[in-house]
Amino acid sequence: MESLAKYATRTHACGVLKKDDVGADVVLAGWVQTRRDHGGLIFLDIRDRSGIVQVVVDPSMAGAFEEAQKIRSEFVVTVKGKVRARPEGTINTGLATGEVEVEADNIEILNKSKTPPFEIDSDAPSDESLRLRYRYVDLRRAEMQENLIMRHNVVKTVRNYLDENGFIEVETPMLTKSTPEGARDFLVPSRMQPHHFYALPQSPQLFKQVLMVAGIERYFQFARAFRDEDLRADRQPEHTQIDMEMSFMDVEGVIALIEGMLKEVFSLIGLDISEPIMRMPFDEAIAKYGSDKPDLRFGMEIQDVSDIASGVDFKVFADTVKNGGAVRGICAPGCASYSRSQIEELTQYAVEHGAKGLAWVAIEAEGNIRSPIAKFFSEEQLESILTRLHAKPGDLCMFAADTPVKASTVLGALRLRLGNELGLINPDDFKFMWLVDCPLFEWDETNGRLSSNHHPFTMPKKEHIPLLDSEPLKVHSYAYDIIINGVEVGGGSLRIYDEELQEKIFGLLGLDIEDAREKFGFLLEAFQYGAPPHGGLAIGLDRLVATLMKKKTIREVIAFPKTQTGSCLMTGAPDTVTDPQLRELHIKLN
Ligand code: AMO
Ligand code: AMP
Repeated sequence: MESLAKYATRTHACGVLKKDDVGADVVLAGWVQTRRDHGGLIFLDIRDRSGIVQVVVDPSMAGAFEEAQKIRSEFVVTVKGKVRARPEGTINTGLATGEVEVEADNIEILNKSKTPPFEIDSDAPSDESLRLRYRYVDLRRAEMQENLIMRHNVVKTVRNYLDENGFIEVETPMLTKSTPEGARDFLVPSRMQPHHFYALPQSPQLFKQVLMVAGIERYFQFARAFRDEDLRADRQPEHTQIDMEMSFMDVEGVIALIEGMLKEVFSLIGLDISEPIMRMPFDEAIAKYGSDKPDLRFGMEIQDVSDIASGVDFKVFADTVKNGGAVRGICAPGCASYSRSQIEELTQYAVEHGAKGLAWVAIEAEGNIRSPIAKFFSEEQLESILTRLHAKPGDLCMFAADTPVKASTVLGALRLRLGNELGLINPDDFKFMWLVDCPLFEWDETNGRLSSNHHPFTMPKKEHIPLLDSEPLKVHSYAYDIIINGVEVGGGSLRIYDEELQEKIFGLLGLDIEDAREKFGFLLEAFQYGAPPHGGLAIGLDRLVATLMKKKTIREVIAFPKTQTGSCLMTGAPDTVTDPQLRELHIKLN
């Protein structure tokens, strides 16, 4: 393609000027980051996407000097001048262009700016709502530009990688049918068909499976997915998935595809992940880390002490084990000095995460034991429990007695909190893992029925199919999640491609066949016309980029994100609409 440079109204980007350019005549354009008036001289820092360069305006250039006096922060200007070396002693090593400056001959103000709500050259203002309200100002900050550029580079890398591997990009509808996929749907009323609604897709799941029936074989899409659920740091009402599906491929094929993709993506930050990524069965993740997305950047693993606890005099422990529960513990290094109120706070935190209580043993520096429960233990019992937890003087051991999963979940929450508080997590570390061997179902306590661990189209393990009727909770599936630093970055599975098995699963999920036909009829029908074996995965692009860039929330890598309450502070969405609009849609508000 012909270069656009010859049409540009500038000759150089600000951030690229170097010593080699000394003597060059340049035309720059950008925003004024700062203006410093040094009596005689005026210094302007001009910023464009590439960076910043210093411009010097001498009073002898009367026109330029007059313009420069009118300039304020964030004015848009164009500067004509000559690059010169900065005098000895004024070199700024903190700036890429710090060895040079531009001596202005002419300055033109292209546009003015109101005083910006915050400075662009400082760290992000602590009030995030200000950043979201004035997002166009916030996005001028170098950090945000880097985030968006990295996101672009990830997309470009992934698109090329998938193309090279024979995938084709196909778009699927945004206006579609409401299907129960897990979260709540966003609904869109139809004007042409009163009382009927479209739903925005929670993912392209059904369409990508239909595309496999359609013989596309390898599909991908950067798909927007919409879910009306409670928002968190890593959840937005609309997010972007790198959505993929393949025919005639087994689990190993999907895993190899994603590992190859992650290798290329992480090479963008200079990280080599050519080694195969470790795999952990779901049950082990829950038992050892109390989470289906363990953060493996630090230890503090959960240990089961049920065998020892069953014999102690502490009734809570002994009875829990007798009744089929478990006693599990974690050891917090260096926390034996925690005060009663600090431990009380941890107990409260555990209770908020479902614990019935939190038993603890502090091994003080001299080896003295401080604990409300130690008196119920013989010396040997205490010794073996502490050995099991690898506890040493100075450590604080905490125990939960409950169902095995609850005990681990509670301790998993404490583990994460303490890992952060104690600085056990190296923020520069990356730990990848595949979560495999997931159960097909989980028990939905509120509704008293089975629900899908992933989604209803996930293929049960062949050898477990006979258990579907007798012990459905023991059935595992061909599902896999990719976890990075405790974040579920992606997930997928092999799919059911047999109509009969699919109907059986719907039945177990409490969807009668009429319901299933009404909701997913098109997929079931498609399966009657020659469905190939298929499987795939979707990566959460926002989470992938946020993880790569070590950001605490995905809002940092989304140009226009929403707040925790689903608002866009810049546009004011969601907003009310007019009565005529509602009438047209046959909607009455109450
Ligand atoms: P799943 O529901 O696991 O799978 O979604 C895939 C990935 O998308 C990301 N993600 C989100 N990111 C930001 N905000 C959200 N609200 C949000 N919800 C999900 C996560 C997640 O791992 N159709 C299946 C995929 C498949 O089976 O192929 C699906 O949507 O990183
Ligand atoms: P109690 O006998 O209720 O006074 O409890 C004694 C200690 O055991 C307290 O520190 C409680 O927080 C703790 N505790 C109570 N129930 C449990 C439980 N299910 N798991 C772990 N600790 C518990």
